[in-house]
This record gives sequence, structure tokens and C-alpha cells, in this order.
Amino acid sequence: MGATSGNGDDASRHGFNQPDISSIKKAYARWAPVYDLTYRRLTAPGRRAAVQAGLACGRTILEVGAGTGMSLEEYPGDCSVIATDLSEDMLKLAMRKVREQALGHVKGVVVMDGCHLGFPDGAFDAVSAQMMITLVPDPEGAMDEFARVLRPGGEIILVNHFGADGGAQARLEEAVAPLVSKVGWSSAFKVSRLDDWARRRGDFTLVAVQPLKPFGFFKLVRLRKAG
Ligand SMILES: C[S@@+](CC[C@H](N)C(=O)[O-])C[C@H]1O[C@@H](n2cnc3c(N)ncnc32)[C@H](O)[C@@H]1O
Repeated sequence: MGATSGNGDDASRHGFNQPDISSIKKAYARWAPVYDLTYRRLTAPGRRAAVQAGLACGRTILEVGAGTGMSLEEYPGDCSVIATDLSEDMLKLAMRKVREQALGHVKGVVVMDGCHLGFPDGAFDAVSAQMMITLVPDPEGAMDEFARVLRPGGEIILVNHFGADGGAQARLEEAVAPLVSKVGWSSAFKVSRLDDWARRRGDFTLVAVQPLKPFGFFKLVRLRKAG
């Protein structure tokens, strides 16, 4: 997974080699029935941290790559959330949660590519993408689109496994890479790639990189748009 070769490591973990739209849809059609069972516990700390970070920005929130909608259950009733994803199969499960749990704060569940969002400029207080950005072939393009629909002063909130850029943690990740690659994790996508994106644009600042339980393997990353 390099800057020019897209994100094949994480993509292949999820069952496809070329992370194009149709292979992502096929892969998540297969994942959908077992996704919550597999990931609910492991991703809970990140989900809760992302929801809190989004609410700290305001009440109008866009979830990109919302999947089966596990995070939708975490928002309070007085906010307004729109959930989007490429995969109709994943979103059907999100819609079922909205219906069965009467999640009135969810104002829309929409099949949509995160790289081409059908919303006006500056429409959201926060744009949240959990376990998604490393699956996108052009993460910087997706980030530009998140930036477009975000209001000035709002934040892009990402939760993912991001590799460390140096130090003991990076050495540890290198050492265990052959082992963890067997279960599909990759540390090739570094937080510095997001910092580089923000610096190139000039209107975003990386404001937080917060390691999450368990073991700091997942991180919450917040990037703020200039107000
Ligand atoms: C690992 S799942 C994470 C789902 C959810 N965010 C969670 O944390 O439970 C990744 C999701 O990203 C979606 N996805 C991948 N590429 C996308 C894109 N370009 N636009 C929108 N969604 C995308 C997939 O369909 C899938 O539902």
C-alpha cells in the first residue's frame, strides 16, 4: 500500500485485489451478513471515540463508509446524521437498525461513493470515516471531497489502523508484520500521509492522533478545517 499504488493490502484483506468500486461492492456483499459479529467488539472503542469527536464539532454529521451502521446507534437523538456507503448490502443492515431501533436522528441512508459526495459545500459540522480511508484507491481525492462538504472550522474524523512513522512502535510493527499479515493487517498507510495532505492544501491542520484500545492498534485522527 504505497502513495502511488493505492491501498491493496487492506483491500485484499477484505477480499479483493483491485480496490475498484465493483470489487468493493462484491467483497462487502459477502461481509455484510457476518460483519457485526466479527467486528462489533473490536471496533467499539473507535466507534465511540469518533462519535464523541463528531459531536464536539456540532450536530450535523456525515458518516462515509458507514457500513452496517453500528455507529448510528451511538449518536444522541438531538443530532442529524446522514450515513453513506458504496455497498447497498451493508447499508440494508444499517437501514434495518434505523427502523428497528427508531433512530430518528438518522436523516438519510444513502448509497454513495465517498469520493463523489452529492452534498453542497460546507454542509456538515463533521465528516466521519471509520475503517474506510485505507480501502479507497485515492485517499487524498476522498479527503478533498470530505473537505469540500465540511463547514469552515469543522473536522474530518478518521478511525483506522495507521502505521507508526518511526520509533519503537514502527520497529515493533515491522517485526510483527509477517505475523499480522496472516490475519490481514497492514501498517503501510501512515498518519504522515494525512499530515502531508493537510499541509499541501494549507487549509487543514492535523489536530489529534489518539491511540485507541486495544493496544493502540487503531487510532482516531482529527483534521480541522480553517475557520
Ligand atoms: C471495514 S468497513 C467499515 C464500516 C463501518 N465504518 C464500521 O466501522 O463498522 C468499510 C466500509 O467502507 C465502505 N467503502 C469502501 N470504499 C468506499 C467508498 N469509496 N465510498 C463509500 N464507502 C466505501 C465499504 O463498502 C464498507 O462498508
